[in-house]
Amino acid sequence: MRYVLQLVRSTEKSCFFEDHKSCISKDVALSIAAIKGMNDILPGEVETWQFLEQVAREVFTTYGFSEIRTPVPEKTELFCRSIGETTDIVEKEMYTFNDKSDNSLTLRPEGTAPVMRSFIQNRLHNLDPVSKLYYLGPMFRYERPQKGRYRQFHQLGAEVIGVEDARIDAQVLAMLHQYFTRIGIESVALQVNSLGCPDCRPAYRLQLIDFLETRLDQLCSECQRRYRTNPLRVLDCKIATCQAATTAAPAMIDHLCCACDEHFAQVQTYLKAVDIPFAVNARMVRGLDYYVRTTFELVTDQLGSQNAVAAGGRYDGLIESLGGPALPGIGFAIGLERLVLMKGEEKIQPAVPQLFIAALGEEAASRAFVLMSRLQAHGIRAEMDYQGKSLKAQMRRANKLNAEFTLILGEEEITSGQAQLKNMCDSTQKTVALDSLQQVLQEKLSGSMGSA
Ligand code: HAM
Repeated sequence: MRYVLQLVRSTEKSCFFEDHKSCISKDVALSIAAIKGMNDILPGEVETWQFLEQVAREVFTTYGFSEIRTPVPEKTELFCRSIGETTDIVEKEMYTFNDKSDNSLTLRPEGTAPVMRSFIQNRLHNLDPVSKLYYLGPMFRYERPQKGRYRQFHQLGAEVIGVEDARIDAQVLAMLHQYFTRIGIESVALQVNSLGCPDCRPAYRLQLIDFLETRLDQLCSECQRRYRTNPLRVLDCKIATCQAATTAAPAMIDHLCCACDEHFAQVQTYLKAVDIPFAVNARMVRGLDYYVRTTFELVTDQLGSQNAVAAGGRYDGLIESLGGPALPGIGFAIGLERLVLMKGEEKIQPAVPQLFIAALGEEAASRAFVLMSRLQAHGIRAEMDYQGKSLKAQMRRANKLNAEFTLILGEEEITSGQAQLKNMCDSTQKTVALDSLQQVLQEKLSGSMGSA
């Protein structure tokens, strides 16, 4: 017990209980701390996560999506082939290691490639021509940690496989919009773009390389290095001189082939038809190579430089390139940590005990234990003291836990089979027979039963 306590006290950071925070002293020796950029999600904060996850499940189910869960590690090759060899993720950010059989494995840096791998491997296209899948879980990228950017972070993602029609692009964005409305975050803006397809992008790419060549001396060293291998990423460089040097760069949407142009126009028409506000951002490029046609980001000005809370797009050639059928796909992923940051102070309260039983003496404690266990088995959040504390200390704890009701059990109550049930909110008391405690509580709590 002592050992556990020491570990908890020594992690020093990520403590979300104010009370708890104040008891962490700086001079406690750091024995084992969490890995940099990877955070604990503690009681007091986890309730916000549970809320965000629960609403996602409700909203995504309404739009016909089913959950899929894939392993955290995958073969490294999966990410190299899908995300792209020259992307920052593959070049610099993957947690890659060899297992004991010398297989190169990588902790998933994103969810789309694993879901496609699973889709192909399990032949999900044989079940339904349209697959709508969602997922939720930790992803890993070795990035420089800062506010909104972590090395282990969580994505809530959704993918639709099998539909090329622009209506599905609008549906996916409508679902994203609906989710943000439901969780009460409205300060986000949807930006859309089209990245063309293998028919029109290569010619545009060459034009962009030619343009960048005329401005090479104004680009940062990283952009000078990658302007030939990944010229689109130069448009996304955050360095001011690179941005200034590329303001007049050709834009993909001005060089789309007829089919891509038509598709992008339809996406916009359908978005307007279902009242989803958006803006076209012709400079938006994505950090993963599998995208074609529609791409999008939900951005906010509340998170500094990590301004994308969700992002996604089409990846029509991806499944085929991984050895699956030639099926189109589109999806997005939301960064859960960023949502939690945006929810900010608006904390969701943890569930409090509905009843605290304060017991006086050993016999009363045994009776309280049985009572408490029976109530818990019937869904009532009951709590008691296990340390033989004084009545005063037990009542202090009941108060601290914000228990809705308290019940004091002593010798007299056990003999009479009755006790005082106190409503901690208005301090009213009522005599209840111990045998009918469950029924009485259920009636009193009926408004709040089952709620957090
Ligand atoms: P992504 O843009 O790399 O796309 O990531 C999606 C979201 O994950 C970002 O907008 C951000 O909110 C969050 N995120 C990314 N990296 C971090 C990090 N280091 N720390 C915290 N949050 C982060 C994808 O991953 C694609 N798989 C999305 C997709 C799904 N496209 C099609 N389907």
